[in-house]
Amino acid sequence: MAARAVRPTGVACPFGEEELIVTKTDLKGRITYANDVFLRLSKYPLREVIVAPHSLIRHPDMPRSVFKLLWDTIAAKKEIFAYVLNMAADGDHYWVFAHVTPTLDGGQALVGYHSNRRKPSAAQIARIEPLYGELRAEEQRHDNRKDGMARGYELLMSKLRDKGLQYDEFVFAV
Ligand SMILES: Cc1cc2nc3c(=O)[nH]c(=O)nc-3n(C[C@H](O)[C@H](O)[C@H](O)COP(=O)(O)O)c2cc1C
Repeated sequence: MAARAVRPTGVACPFGEEELIVTKTDLKGRITYANDVFLRLSKYPLREVIVAPHSLIRHPDMPRSVFKLLWDTIAAKKEIFAYVLNMAADGDHYWVFAHVTPTLDGGQALVGYHSNRRKPSAAQIARIEPLYGELRAEEQRHDNRKDGMARGYELLMSKLRDKGLQYDEFVFAV
């Protein structure tokens, strides 16, 4: 899909604490199911969402390295929790705390992925934003996207080492 011309507005979409955003994807990350909360927050009609890549709602401030960690983890048939900043069709944004899981068939083969998200607290967002800003800045220091992502990933891992935390421990300590 072509890069979107829409720019972030800086306006947050209302997202209730009791709400749950749900999508399912195929193995390539193309959306196969989206619930009503997803449609309301993303401001896309269902017909534009189904079969679209999940990067449809990618916000430009999200570090590539976080998506690398997400994909490496779920492709290895493990679940991951992650803070993600998303962008709606009109450029408004919303932070989520996502739980992304692999879907396995009876023979333990990967058949797709599933993500449930809740609203993170303002305090959690305030702690994640500067970290993601640092990762993004490191990624942008490199002309080559792949190198940038690798350097951002190394920075994330070195920060976790400094804190003495595994990634899973870190996300729940935020
Ligand atoms: C189940 C599932 C849910 C995902 N949810 C999101 C999401 O909410 N927002 C997002 O930007 N990327 C999400 N992704 C990751 C995207 O597939 C993609 O890697 C990311 O948007 C980065 O896109 P890019 O590599 O084209 O820059 C999800 C992937 C899967 C498998």
